[in-house]
Amino acid sequence: MSEQILIRRATPDDAASINSIWQVIAAEKIYSAIDKPFTIEEERAYIQSLSEREGVFLAEIDGSVIGFQSLDLWARSIHSMDHVGQLGTFALSAWRKHGVGNALAQHTLAFAKAHGYEKLVIFVRASNTSAQKFYAGLGFIECGRFARQVKIDGKFDDEILMELFL
Ligand SMILES: CC(C)(COP(=O)(O)OP(=O)(O)OC[C@H]1O[C@@H](n2cnc3c(N)ncnc32)[C@H](O)[C@@H]1OP(=O)(O)O)[C@@H](O)C(=O)NCCC(=O)NCCS
Repeated sequence: MSEQILIRRATPDDAASINSIWQVIAAEKIYSAIDKPFTIEEERAYIQSLSEREGVFLAEIDGSVIGFQSLDLWARSIHSMDHVGQLGTFALSAWRKHGVGNALAQHTLAFAKAHGYEKLVIFVRASNTSAQKFYAGLGFIECGRFARQVKIDGKFDDEILMELFL
């Protein structure tokens, strides 16, 4: 399966494809703290705002975007943390557990190493054990927890912090 997956950097013109994935993730409500999808214009502005050390990377099959992974500086205005990046990974439900996340991570981790990152950090909802397993498979280690950090439809969830030293 993985040989059919093309990974490429998103441009502002990919905002609609990314928005359609956010719509799915936000509607599912169980995977992300994001419960309201970014609009196409917000997504476009976000992609335009990214530095050369940041990016959204797309997984495509037959020209359709089926997943993406974002790499952001942990803190744009705190230069003592320039070596720290933050990841987010999302695939359409029909394509989960088909190697999309691994293909994206292979690309993004190589990009991160080549662009001076020394560690990556992620927040994952405590109830999202599948994503925790995915990130653990990449070498991320759990290093903290924010209690009742997410509240969706009146229901709390914790956020797990995980980090990976590159
Ligand atoms: C989490 C997610 C990004 C992983 O991507 P994916 O394409 O499904 O992952 P892959 O198929 O490349 O699998 C990568 C590894 O993670 C493991 N994995 C993926 N989903 C898993 C699950 N539900 N349970 C256990 N392990 C899982 C795979 O077994 C695989 O392990 P391996 O490398 O040892 O074979 C994807 O499932 C997803 O988009 N989930 C919904 C959104 C989400 O939770 N995003 C993360 C928010 S922080």
